[in-house]
Amino acid sequence: MSDSVVSISGLSKTFAKADITALDDISLEIGQREFVSLIGPSGCGKSTLLRAVGDIVEPTAGSVEVNGKPARRARLDGDYGIVFQAPVLYDWRTVAKNIALPLEMLGWDRARRVARVKEMVELVDLAGFEDHHPWQLSGGMQQRVSIARAFSFSPALLLMDEPFGALDEMTRERLNLELLRLWLETESTVIFVTHSISEAVFLSTRVVVMSARPGRVSAIVPIDLPQPRMAATREEARFFELVTEVREALHAGGADLA
Ligand SMILES: Nc1ncnc2c1ncn2[C@@H]1O[C@H](COP(=O)(O)OP(=O)(O)OP(=O)(O)O)[C@@H](O)[C@H]1O
Ligand SMILES: [Mg+2]
Repeated sequence: MSDSVVSISGLSKTFAKADITALDDISLEIGQREFVSLIGPSGCGKSTLLRAVGDIVEPTAGSVEVNGKPARRARLDGDYGIVFQAPVLYDWRTVAKNIALPLEMLGWDRARRVARVKEMVELVDLAGFEDHHPWQLSGGMQQRVSIARAFSFSPALLLMDEPFGALDEMTRERLNLELLRLWLETESTVIFVTHSISEAVFLSTRVVVMSARPGRVSAIVPIDLPQPRMAATREEARFFELVTEVREALHAGGADLA
């Protein structure tokens, strides 16, 4: 058995009704504790690829294995957490109850849930807001709740689709740091979709560059910046070199993005 957490092999996806080939023959191995970003022009299939890994989209050809099991089995086993671009929170549930939701679904007893929620609330810096409802929070705070919820049950794999896309630059940079801290502490594997080259470089151990439709992997850029990354990492010469490398790979893949 390979030690890959995610093994994608010959994956293609055609949306028959729309006659769109979103993904064409993608193969990718992702190891334990990797942080892999997917970047590419709008419509190149990043969300579709993430959804195929999460068993939300059925591949037309090829296969996805997670922890050595078919994606379906891994989903049923609760092997991953998902964070979408817009935080999907339940308005009638408080912050604490939103974070506790997957724990309830997994059948954790009350004492264990309470202890974990407390821990997660502190990790994402929301202590004091446990009894607030989502509509009483800013967008950045709501996104932190959904990140806390996704991490709450320590899933082996986190799938994140542009979770910070709607946030201002300052909030985004702060959440980048929080995310990296959670990632280091929980020893999880992350697949992260973003449009931002600098965000991809800052967060990742590898950046996967996808080409315009049909989506293919056009380059893989290993990011050798030391861990833990800090705010000052963004000012290092190596950071700028890697940003340039990813930008050039995007252009070579036909991207019309920055
Ligand atoms: N359910 C669907 N039915 C038909 N076509 C779809 C469906 N989902 C995605 N597509 C098409 O597949 C292609 C890839 O879409 P996808 O959402 O994966 O792109 P993306 O890279 O995430 O784009 P963006 O950066 O804008 O979020 C697009 O052309 C899109 O129109
Ligand atoms: Mg998308």
